[in-house]
Amino acid sequence: RRRLGRRFVDLDNGDEGDVPSRGDDLGGDWSRRDDVGGDSSTETTWKEVRRRDNGHGGDATVSSQLAMDVDKKDSVASDSSEQVVNPWEVAAKDGGKIDYDKLIDQFGCQRLDDSLIDRVQRLTSRQPHVFLRRGVFFAHRDFNEVLDAYERGDKFYLYTGRGPSSEALHLGHLIPFMFTKYLQEAFKVPLVIQLTDDEKCMWKNLSVEESQRLARENAKDIIACGFDVTKTFIFSDFDYVGGAFYKNMVKVAKCVTLNKAMGIFGFSGEDHIGKLSFPPVQACLSVPAVPSFPSSFPHLFPGKDKLRCLIPCAIDQDPYFRMTRDVAPRLGYSKPALIESSFFPALQASGENGKMSASDPNSAIYVTDTAKEIKNKINRYAFSGGQDSIEKHREIGANLEVDIPVKYLSFFLDDDTELEHIKKEYGEGRMLTGEVKKRLTEVLTEMVERHRMARAAVTDEMVDAFMAVRPLPSMFE
Ligand code: TYM
Ligand code: TRP
Repeated sequence: RRRLGRRFVDLDNGDEGDVPSRGDDLGGDWSRRDDVGGDSSTETTWKEVRRRDNGHGGDATVSSQLAMDVDKKDSVASDSSEQVVNPWEVAAKDGGKIDYDKLIDQFGCQRLDDSLIDRVQRLTSRQPHVFLRRGVFFAHRDFNEVLDAYERGDKFYLYTGRGPSSEALHLGHLIPFMFTKYLQEAFKVPLVIQLTDDEKCMWKNLSVEESQRLARENAKDIIACGFDVTKTFIFSDFDYVGGAFYKNMVKVAKCVTLNKAMGIFGFSGEDHIGKLSFPPVQACLSVPAVPSFPSSFPHLFPGKDKLRCLIPCAIDQDPYFRMTRDVAPRLGYSKPALIESSFFPALQASGENGKMSASDPNSAIYVTDTAKEIKNKINRYAFSGGQDSIEKHREIGANLEVDIPVKYLSFFLDDDTELEHIKKEYGEGRMLTGEVKKRLTEVLTEMVERHRMARAAVTDEMVDAFMAVRPLPSMFE
């Protein structure tokens, strides 16, 4: 078993260990829910693809998220027999894969099944995003309720965020933003994006100025994903927190005891008070909760306290919103709904030598990488499921389960037919690793190049426009 990142919470000793109860006291949200309907009858291509793939849910590779995350340098390895997934740590059991089904059980979220994706297709009159078709987004909380309301004509708003701890985003970070852009377009709804510069100042020991600078740099990458300025408000905590937002922070904070915080987030007596005490506890715990409540944005949603919020993110963020959903009704707000993705794995994510150090820039592809860097990283570091010799490969084919190039293509190669073709040919040994890597290099180079151009076109004035505290008059159109 491999652990990456600092260990804050141990999901397997929640009840008996020295860490207080991991949140059974939070009530309903921790329990399992099975109320999402089964299969629907109409067959479409995406569903066949999804079924064959069995989604990313089942087969994502180990310790992926943290390995991709430059933030999680200086990892401390330790042993445990259970997988750990929380905002600071993602670790599979015994060098294996993240068991996403188990995670759904543990967290008490719901599986995003075909019938829901069908509904999305029907309600938006467009093909569901490739991340839905392929099961990248695999779990949710109350997404069905958001769709019920939408069907009745009640809109919602989207909320997502980024902790600006590094100059450049990596491809994993782009996933929730690409997906959020699709949701914004498909449902025609407003979006708030939180940049938790306060959090990074606290946790990564960056100066206030440096965190704020990184927030603006990251905002450019986020804007480059194509968000609509007439429907999107991006804010930095340092700039925006105060007023209505701060009042909600205090209200949330009053609902969360120290024991609960320790249980959900795994803080211990060894953590410095910057992480635990007031006001910093706000920065790490209640700040992510607050954008889930419409009243935190009086310039956007005046008098719309009942407006529902939908949060797209990777499943590492779930603990924040478990807490949020617990306190929401007590404050008179609706619980935010969530739509959650699996992790984009590190290049070396599989195999015996998969011990990737997050501080290793070669484990991740950044949006700033050149075509040459991308090519080199893929050729040198992408873990291959191909066989050692050509003869053996031709005979038994590649092991697609552990193959990183195939995994990456399944995130970013849009064409379902081509992806299926590659999997078949490669899996049966007619295609070689080199060929698959070549195709992946093309796909990623094109994507990163497109991003680079879009980002170069983002001016400081545009950042100011997205970050201006202003009403968005046509945000639901
Ligand atoms: P941050 O900056 O660590 O990550 C930003 C978003 O990217 C997701 N993510 C990934 N998704 C797939 N594969 C990966 N390898 C991968 N790595 C990161 C994260 O889940 C996240 O959605 N504190 C948060 C910022 C935040 C936020 C939010 C995020 C504040 N409020 C609401 C989502 C929703 C953070 O540091 O994210
Ligand atoms: N994700 C953060 C980290 O990795 C932790 C965090 C702090 C966070 N504040 C947040 C996550 C708000 C989601 C939302 O350091």
